[in-house]
Parts: sequence; structure tokens; C-alpha cells
Amino acid sequence: MNPKQMVLLACLYACVLILTLTTAQTNTNRTYTISKGDNITKPGCTKKCGNITVPYPFGIGSDCAFNMQFELSCNTSDDGSQKLILGINIMVYDISDTELRVENSISWRCYNSSGAVIDESLGWTRFIDSSPYSFSVLNRFTIVGCDDYGSITVPNNFEYGCNVSCTSRGDVIEGECMGKGCGQKHIPKGLKYYNTTMSSTENHTDVWSFNSCGYAFLGEADRFRFQGLPDLGDDLYASYFYDRIQASVPIVLDWAIGSLTCTQALKIENYACSENSHCIDSDTGLGGYRCSCNTGYHGNPYLNQGCQGSYNCSCPHGYTGDGKKDGRGCIAPSSKQFPWIKFSLGWCLYIPSGWNNLVLFQNQEKEID
Ligand SMILES: *[C@@H]1O[C@H](CO)[C@@H](O)[C@H](O)[C@H]1NC(C)=O
Ligand SMILES: *[C@@H]1O[C@H](CO)[C@@H](O)[C@H](O)[C@H]1NC(C)=O
Ligand SMILES: *[C@@H]1O[C@H](CO)[C@@H](O)[C@H](O)[C@H]1NC(C)=O
Ligand SMILES: *[C@@H]1O[C@H](CO)[C@@H](O)[C@H](O)[C@H]1NC(C)=O
Ligand SMILES: *[C@@H]1O[C@H](CO)[C@@H](O)[C@H](O)[C@H]1NC(C)=O
Ligand SMILES: *[C@@H]1O[C@H](CO)[C@@H](O)[C@H](O)[C@H]1NC(C)=O
Ligand SMILES: *[C@@H]1O[C@H](CO)[C@@H](O)[C@H](O)[C@H]1NC(C)=O
Ligand SMILES: *[C@@H]1O[C@H](CO)[C@@H](O)[C@H](O)[C@H]1NC(C)=O
Ligand SMILES: *[C@@H]1O[C@H](CO)[C@@H](O)[C@H](O)[C@H]1NC(C)=O
Repeated sequence: MNPKQMVLLACLYACVLILTLTTAQTNTNRTYTISKGDNITKPGCTKKCGNITVPYPFGIGSDCAFNMQFELSCNTSDDGSQKLILGINIMVYDISDTELRVENSISWRCYNSSGAVIDESLGWTRFIDSSPYSFSVLNRFTIVGCDDYGSITVPNNFEYGCNVSCTSRGDVIEGECMGKGCGQKHIPKGLKYYNTTMSSTENHTDVWSFNSCGYAFLGEADRFRFQGLPDLGDDLYASYFYDRIQASVPIVLDWAIGSLTCTQALKIENYACSENSHCIDSDTGLGGYRCSCNTGYHGNPYLNQGCQGSYNCSCPHGYTGDGKKDGRGCIAPSSKQFPWIKFSLGWCLYIPSGWNNLVLFQNQEKEID
């Protein structure tokens, strides 16, 4: 192998490595890079409420958030435990780079043995159009019961509904949510409002002995597994299903800054992405964007100096230096002796634009010239 081929190979290897790192990042839905780093809030702001980390652009109190819509409150109860609250009363469990996990809101309809509705609560949630939140497609609308129709109505009066039925206890199978005692519907992306409707063909009169209530909720699909009879019955205690879902299945909200695309946002005054970061359009179809530290940098991209370089670059064989654009770069042993280097570097610079921040070889060109 001649030296030219070797440099080329090194370049290809580096490029493949970078590509792999990048792909790995975009495939992970639940990342917390905005919560990692020395500074994750504006100076002087509270980092945690209970055990929940609150990274900027979110903030507890008005001067701590990017704008009013990212303002959360931390409510301390009498026993000293703390709750992170969005809006008036939505409890927040978790904040990731792209999502918020919040408390569920379960709907139910219960009947007595002669088919009269004795208890009912039908949920609805609305985020105003200008709000940064929408329901993630990681949620599914789930309905549990043996004689129920449940649906959510979304703007434009489009209805996502599902019938569930079963005739005997033996009908329901644990872990199966395909219509026998449990059914699910996907929801459209970018949903900001829904309300729940429930009805029953026989008002549970045929199944009342083992199932007197129908339930419906929107929640993270991966967190829900149908338990079969225990979920349908009152055998354990009346609020078993409600308590179980409330405690274990959150609603996932997507969040984004504003409603402008990256291209549009770059031109405005309060563009949210700080230095060494780039803008990513939200994929909800509603507009809005998020920020991400450039490759080689880590931390909170919304904060001043939030993205800190932590990538250890390596120089091709024979070079010395730290490979960093703002460091010593890569220094050729002696450019005069290796006239082929320039040619090879030309190849390396074929790295797609946008990766400029980790073009390991850009430095070399500088050094050699
Ligand atoms: C990420 O989310 C998308 C849909 O939002 C899903 O199709 C994909 O499987 C998820 N990837 C991982 C690694 O969870
Ligand atoms: C980051 O936090 C440290 C200590 O909390 C502080 O000294 C420093 O000024 C902060 N940096 C920025 C850019 O806010
Ligand atoms: C916070 O505490 C609750 C209960 O104490 C626990 O269930 C939850 O997993 C904790 N969350 C984190 C992020 O540690
Ligand atoms: C906040 O805490 C107070 C008591 O300290 C309580 O009355 C109130 O309901 C709480 N608010 C929420 C949204 O949990
Ligand atoms: C069911 O409720 C209706 C209306 O409240 C009542 O008239 C009926 O007697 C109740 N049936 C039973 C079995 O309690
Ligand atoms: C639910 O939404 C539909 C369509 O917007 C509306 O007709 C209906 O009255 C709403 N129901 C409730 C309970 O808000
Ligand atoms: C649910 O069942 C009712 C009554 O059998 C029927 O009219 C309706 O079309 C069904 N809906 C769906 C979504 O299957
Ligand atoms: C079911 O309940 C609804 C609402 O209370 C009532 O209008 C309807 O007549 C009942 N149907 C039967 C079969 O009991
Ligand atoms: C980079 O190198 C330094 C010291 O050489 C080391 O402390 C640090 O952990 C390395 N960082 C990464 C991301 O490998």
C-alpha cells in the first residue's frame, strides 16, 4: 500500500466512524444531552424539582425559561415532596431532548347491573396553537372493556375510534390488545387537541359480572401491557386499572421552539440555538425547531456556551497534534517531503457540508498551506 492509499483509507475510516456516530444519535428517541454538561440552566436557576431535572429552554420561574411557554412550576406539598407542573395542573415526569412525559388523564364510564351509567369522566386536552407541545405518535389511544366503543375526536371532527368486546372471562388474553377486552388506535402526528367519547351497545348488562366499566386513555404505547382480567374487573379494588395506568403510563408530548422552520428562525432575533450548535426542524408538521450541539460538542445547545467540545480527534498516521479546529490541528511531519498530501486531503474534504465542524482534515489543510 502506498502512502497515498493509506491516508485515503484513514479518511474513509474516519468518515465511516463519524457517520456511524451520527446515525446512532438520530436513532435514539430518548436522549438527554440537554441535561448533561456543567451548565444546563440559566445562571442562578433551579436545576431540579424533586428528582426531575429541568434543563433550559425549560425553567422554573419566569426568568429561567426561554419564554413563558417553557415555564414550569415546582409545587412543594406538605410532606415535602415536590411536583413539577406544566400549565395549571399537568404533572411532568421527565424532560428529554425532544419529549416531555406527563401525567395521564384516563376516561371511564361505569354501569350498574341494569345498565344505567353510574359514573363517568371523559377527558379532553387542548394545547393552544401557539404552544410548543403536541401529542407524540409514541402514544396510542387505548380502550379497555368488554362492551365499549371509545373514540377521540380531533380537530376537523375526525374520529379515531375502536370497539372492544368479549362475551366471557375466557375471551380475554393477557398481553393482547386486539379488540378482545382491549383495543388500540394510532394517532396522527402533530395532534394538539382531542376529546374522548365513550359508548356501549348493551351498557355492559351482558358482561357486568366481570366488567362493569369501560376505560379509555391516550398514553405511551411501550409502557402499556394489557393484564387481561385484572384490568377489566373490580376483583382487586375499584380503581385498580385507573391507579395502575396513572402510575405507569405517561403521555408523551413532543416539544419544539416556536412554529418557524430553521431557515425562518435563523433570521429572527431570539433564535434559540447557541454557538457550536445547529438547528433541526421538528417533524411534527407544525413547524418549530430544536437545537443540537454540533458533532464533537456536548451539552445544552440553548444556553450561551452550552455546547462544549469534548471530541478527541485523532490525526492521520504520521501527523502530530490534537486534531482540533480550535486547538493545534494536525501537523504534517513535513509537507515538502510529502507532496501527495494535498491531493489526498482533497478527497477527505468530500465530507458532506454540515459536518464542517468535525472535518478533521480541514485543519491539516490550514497547516500545510
Ligand atoms: C424512534 O421513533 C420512531 C417513531 O417516532 C420509531 O419508528 C423508531 O422505531 C424509534 N427508534 C427507536 C430506537 O426507538
Ligand atoms: C457555568 O456554571 C459555572 C458554575 O456553576 C459558572 O461559573 C459559569 O460562569 C457558567 N458558565 C456560563 C457560560 O454560564
Ligand atoms: C423519581 O422518583 C420517583 C419516585 O420516588 C421514581 O419512581 C422515579 O423513577 C424517579 N425518577 C428519576 C428520573 O429518578
Ligand atoms: C400545589 O400545592 C398545594 C399545597 O401545597 C396544593 O394545594 C395544590 O393543589 C398543588 N397544585 C398542584 C397543581 O398540584
Ligand atoms: C341502576 O341505576 C338506575 C338509575 O340510577 C336505578 O334506577 C336502578 O335501580 C339501578 N339498578 C340497580 C340494580 O341498582
Ligand atoms: C368533542 O369534540 C367534538 C368535535 O369537536 C364536539 O362535537 C363534541 O361536542 C366534543 N365533546 C366534548 C365532550 O367536548
Ligand atoms: C363499533 O361497533 C358499532 C356497533 O356494532 C358500529 O356501529 C361501529 O361502526 C363500530 N365502529 C368501529 C370503529 O368499528
Ligand atoms: C345505555 O345508557 C344510555 C345512557 O345512559 C341510555 O341512553 C341507553 O338507553 C342505555 N341502553 C341500554 C340498552 O340500557
Ligand atoms: C479526551 O482526552 C482527555 C485526555 O486526553 C480525556 O480525559 C477525555 O476523557 C477524552 N474524551 C473523550 C470524549 O474521549
